Amino acid sequence: MRILVTGGVGYIGSHTVLQLLRADHEILVFDNYSNSSPEAMRRIKHLSQREPEMIIGDIQDSVALSNAFRYFRPDAVIHFAGLKSVGESSIVPLRYYAENIGGTVEILRAMDDVQCRRIVFSSSATVYGVARYLPFDEGHPRNPESPYGRTKYFVEELIKDWTVAGLDRSAVLLRYFNPVGADASAILGEDPNGPPNNLMPYITQVAVGRLACLSIFGDNYETRDGTGERDYIHVEDLASAHLAALEFGACHVGCEAINIGTGHGVTVLEMIEAFEAASGRKIRFKIVGRRDGDVARSFASVEKAYKKLGWKARYGIYEMCRSAWNWQLRNPDGYRQL
Ligand code: NAD
Ligand code: UD1
Repeated sequence: MRILVTGGVGYIGSHTVLQLLRADHEILVFDNYSNSSPEAMRRIKHLSQREPEMIIGDIQDSVALSNAFRYFRPDAVIHFAGLKSVGESSIVPLRYYAENIGGTVEILRAMDDVQCRRIVFSSSATVYGVARYLPFDEGHPRNPESPYGRTKYFVEELIKDWTVAGLDRSAVLLRYFNPVGADASAILGEDPNGPPNNLMPYITQVAVGRLACLSIFGDNYETRDGTGERDYIHVEDLASAHLAALEFGACHVGCEAINIGTGHGVTVLEMIEAFEAASGRKIRFKIVGRRDGDVARSFASVEKAYKKLGWKARYGIYEMCRSAWNWQLRNPDGYRQL
């Protein structure tokens, strides 16, 4: 299949592109490197022993996009590109709306221009907001609590409208839970800019001595041990879900939203324990107040993913910690060295 991948050099995109290349698909990556490094692209080529095509461009640039689509004529698109920080989205909401929503409109236009009718989109469990019941199934009401979450909600709606408006159009909206971990090679991984906001990269940077101590945001939630519970998903499993979604899209029309998680919640203290077992390092931590916007518990119903895509997660929390640790150990400064 010929697949145009927006944001294909980023954390999730890079792992997915690697699997696509290994499965012999023809790939064009469209990325502006705003949150990724050419070094990641170099490593994808090294690991896959292939030369995917790459265009450096912004998804808001309709001319650059249209040229890329006319040149490559993809069968399908995987759309990762966009801004993803919950906190930042409250400070610069218009940037988030323009890039995430406006950028997606441009992609759908460019697809129409070359009669490309299939898309897989990176949505997020954040569209659900506070749980009315658990696990979150795909029918759970959506009530996102941040501008970032609302961009995901609106893009889900606009892609759905696009599928309804034309024949033979297919879209899979993958609602990721909490992606963590790294490629088994320890050559690709997560490389956040500045101090990490998310738990796993924070833990790995404490383990490697880049940060002094983890702050646990609250220990008085209604969970097994009082700390927040999440459904962490290994990035290699998440990448393979995209391949399954592409195959599904090749023989189905319409729009499907599908959760991608393991179906199991893990608390912050359980994650620390698993990481210590996987790395042999002690993680220093202190308990601080709750972080605004955090919920107590979030985990996925994964039945639909299995029923529709025949996909389920293979890796557990130990493998997630082990691969994240191997990546951090081998690349203490991320892509900025080696
Ligand atoms: P990332 O920031 O690592 O990757 C995004 C990639 O898109 C980067 O390579 C960046 O340079 C590129 N990009 C950003 N804006 C662009 C633009 N305007 N034009 C072209 N390229 C652009 O993020 P990620 O963690 O790999 O996430 C990928 C997608 O998955 C995002 O849409 C994100 O919202 C979604 N998502 C991520 C998570 C998570 O925890 N990482 C969870 C749920 C959903
Ligand atoms: C966050 C985003 C969510 C996004 C997800 C991607 C918020 C409010 N939500 O989710 O939209 O889809 O990342 O992975 O930002 N924790 C600590 N100390 C830390 C960091 C985190 O105790 O330094 C705790 C949190 O309180 C939470 C758990 O660890 O209980 C996971 O946090 P995080 O990795 O930031 O993910 P989410 O908050 O689930």
